[in-house]
Amino acid sequence: MKFIDLDRQYQAYKAEIDRSIHDVLNSGQFILGENVSQLEGELSEFVGAKYGIGVSSGTDALILALMALDIGPGQEVITTPFTFFATAEVVSLVGARPVFVDIDPVNFNIDPLALETVLEERVRAGATVKAVLPVSLFGQCPDMDMICAISRRYDIPVIEDGCQSFGATYKDRRSCGLSEIGVTSFFPSKPLGGYGDGGMIFTHSQELAGRIKMLRNHGQKDRYVHAYIGLNARLDEIQAAVIHVKFRHFMEELKARKDAAERYDALIKELTPWIKPPTIAAHGSSVYAQYTIRIPGGKRDFVVNHLAQRGIPVAVHYPLPLHFQPALKYLGYVAGDFPQAEQAADEVLSLPMHPFITLQEQEQIIKALKDALEQGT
Ligand SMILES: Cc1ncc(COP(=O)(O)O)c(C=O)c1O
Repeated sequence: MKFIDLDRQYQAYKAEIDRSIHDVLNSGQFILGENVSQLEGELSEFVGAKYGIGVSSGTDALILALMALDIGPGQEVITTPFTFFATAEVVSLVGARPVFVDIDPVNFNIDPLALETVLEERVRAGATVKAVLPVSLFGQCPDMDMICAISRRYDIPVIEDGCQSFGATYKDRRSCGLSEIGVTSFFPSKPLGGYGDGGMIFTHSQELAGRIKMLRNHGQKDRYVHAYIGLNARLDEIQAAVIHVKFRHFMEELKARKDAAERYDALIKELTPWIKPPTIAAHGSSVYAQYTIRIPGGKRDFVVNHLAQRGIPVAVHYPLPLHFQPALKYLGYVAGDFPQAEQAADEVLSLPMHPFITLQEQEQIIKALKDALEQGT
């Protein structure tokens, strides 16, 4: 059994994927060709953004978003401490300071009320807060309207890290099209993944789109004329061709993910004295990049070991909140600063989740989970 079974997906679309890769090989055009521009058009329309810019990874998408907003030393970006490291890493990388706000324990996303308090406090303290960077963790969005309304009061743009939530809905709109900038990742295991690294930036602003297009290509304005110091951070044609094929099947896959989550929800009911299933906020839908439960009472690590011994692949997203990461120690946060994020890191467990998972596999997983919980009590 695999945590995310990409083999089954490849076998299902093999003929189409192989053909599209061969078409790129035969075209001789590997960088910034038709496949990338077609995909940019298709995906930006899907998320309801005016522009889509294909880039080399979700991490590079975040870096380019920060660069396009001219964010750097002496400035702050407010984000969550409970996410993949890249979210805060990029803020430090451009020389700015990540400022953390605790999460809502129900959906693991940044708590908008806590954001309001911290933003007000940082502005009052004279800090230059240049962006708010919420993450749509595990496949569902936080309350983006509330986050945007709070940020707008201070004229601060919102960058949605939608690396785990491409396809998710929020009040009948799509993740990545909900704020000034939205970014996503096409890392192979993401809901919409390629066969390598890739990402996309979405925006409604012509000015930002123009700048990001230059920044992803060495800041180049015209051939060999460089307006900005930029990066080589382009999406390549082979990845775009693969993602284009997978996007044809994306809506069916989202339905299959939702069905799988509902099967887990039903199977897991009998375990609810021990575990908490995922909660999806009423404002939207999840794409279940992860199906993440909570195991309170200090039993999570016992369960992980028990499942590993029985060949059930599970994962902990994430064992360390970002203020505990060695590389971010310099920020000066201490234990107890973000109690919800710290507790989540001790309790979360992600179960195998992908569109091709079967009921039999899910029954096997839940049975092993039940055994582990019974032995652990
Ligand atoms: C929340 C989040 N942000 C950023 C990233 C970085 O994306 P990538 O791996 O494509 O650089 C990821 C994915 O790994 C992620 O899950």
